[in-house]
Amino acid sequence: MSGLFITFEGIDGCGKSTQADLLENHFEEIGRKVISVREPGGTDISERIRDVLLSTDNRLMHDSTEALLLAASRAQLTLETIVPVLELGNVVLCDRYLDSTLAYQGYGRQLPAEWLRQINSAAVEPDITFFVDVPVETAMARMEGKTLDRMEEEGTTFLSRVRDGYLALAQSYSKRYIVLDGTADFSSVHNTVRKEVEKRYDKD
Ligand code: TYD
Repeated sequence: MSGLFITFEGIDGCGKSTQADLLENHFEEIGRKVISVREPGGTDISERIRDVLLSTDNRLMHDSTEALLLAASRAQLTLETIVPVLELGNVVLCDRYLDSTLAYQGYGRQLPAEWLRQINSAAVEPDITFFVDVPVETAMARMEGKTLDRMEEEGTTFLSRVRDGYLALAQSYSKRYIVLDGTADFSSVHNTVRKEVEKRYDKD
């Protein structure tokens, strides 16, 4: 696959979606073909799975059901969109991907990592993963006043485990991971993102 697959990761409220949007604009400005998708979701089928996953009507959902639905949403997005776009040589920006499952369902829900990898065998390895890191208290403060979805209702202890999970993943996959300071001004974070992309892929 000749394209470029970039993922954005972090705990809820870290500001990664803003960074994904800014990078999408940058690629468009320089005339590079880019698509931007989010998880869970990104295709019609996956967006319907997203509704089931995030609805507060579904508080009875078991952790394993949640992981399987996320994997189903990801398989559809990967096979319907990500792989074909990469094969055309274009850029795919994904707001959350497999690392979200390893951090939230693995470290947060404490499901076995090996099983999570098995059910996600359709997933492809990102070229670059930006982890937008913020302290849990900062993320919680940013979410204050917002109507929370089923995942966001989990609270501080859960999010601390998820953040620790991301930090561990960043160490294990240091070649593709770039840790960003999500408390910094969003435009300076964007400049770092651009520099890192240019450093690795100076083919624009
Ligand atoms: P979303 O509203 O998209 O949150 P954000 O804007 O922070 O990305 O909701 C996605 C939620 O689903 C978020 O709380 C993280 C969670 N999630 C997982 O637990 N595992 C996963 O694999 C993915 C993709 C998301």
